[in-house]
Amino acid sequence: MKYLVRTFNLTKKYKNTSVVENLNLNIEQGQIYGFLGKNGAGKTTTLRMILGLMKISTGEVELFGEKNPTRSIYKKIGSIIEYPGFYPNLTAEENLDIHRRMMKIENQKRINETLTMVGLDSNSIKGKKVKNFSLGMKQRLGLARALLHEPELLILDEPTNGLDPLGIKSMRETLIALCKDRGITILVSSHLLSEIEQLATKIGIIDKGHLIEELTYDDLQKRNKKYLKLKVSDVKEACSLIKNNLNIKDYEIIGKDAIKVYEKINESSTIAKTLIKNDIELYEMSFSKDNLEDYFVKVTEGDSNV
Ligand SMILES: Nc1ncnc2c1ncn2[C@@H]1O[C@H](COP(=O)(O)OP(=O)(O)OP(=O)(O)O)[C@@H](O)[C@H]1O
Ligand SMILES: [Mg+2]
Repeated sequence: MKYLVRTFNLTKKYKNTSVVENLNLNIEQGQIYGFLGKNGAGKTTTLRMILGLMKISTGEVELFGEKNPTRSIYKKIGSIIEYPGFYPNLTAEENLDIHRRMMKIENQKRINETLTMVGLDSNSIKGKKVKNFSLGMKQRLGLARALLHEPELLILDEPTNGLDPLGIKSMRETLIALCKDRGITILVSSHLLSEIEQLATKIGIIDKGHLIEELTYDDLQKRNKKYLKLKVSDVKEACSLIKNNLNIKDYEIIGKDAIKVYEKINESSTIAKTLIKNDIELYEMSFSKDNLEDYFVKVTEGDSNV
């Protein structure tokens, strides 16, 4: 297993307050790592420290196995932190060409290649100044710039901020394709759980500067368990029947009148019949799935940090 990014007790303090504290992240090659946290959780601060754009208070960052990354290591990384800035009166191609020369990239064809890669059709943007781009187009152009020097690792801070649902979907598809087809490892932050859930192969949840948990895809599948939800007149009696008569052990009481049954859910009619036969009123019976959102809310309970 090769790690492209690891942090060891990474900490950022302003005066005496830690905004990122003892963060240990592990991003493997080939992953789309979703860095999830509410506003003010410490995502941008962490990504800036990883990229060497901000002084670390204590702790370490390891990039491509190097604890003291050199320029040649940083060259393997493409990034967008917060909103990408451009020369507004220049076209996309002109903006990328400035970056190409700055990065000393010889191949001029790379500009159109990357524009295509991010779904910016060169005919539709030809001659168009960046100030007349939509937000979605600017985000794509930012991605094109990050990709121009053929990085092995992309670090993207909320690349879908401000995009509409279609824009989010298409950015997601682009990122998945970059990872799948070109083998680019992606570290992407977001405060939107729904987005990360559909994109990432591993998720790190940060709250108030602390890493709450790192979850793999398998962990997520386990948490996304299907269940049968029952609303009943007598929870206690219903549970006793579920346990003793139906031999179901995996269930959970929710609030005053509901039960989530995780086991034998394809025997729902037997469950219903047993309850009704025993004078339990069944107000509702539905299939549902636990989602990461419930989990995210649970682990980050409380007010956001802003
Ligand atoms: N210069 C500073 N001095 C003091 N506190 C700061 C400074 N810069 C940032 N912070 C605090 O650090 C915390 C983390 O900020 P950061 O921008 O990393 O959060 P974030 O997770 O990226 O949030 P968002 O989702 O809003 O982008 C916030 O509480 C913020 O107020
Ligand atoms: Mg941020």
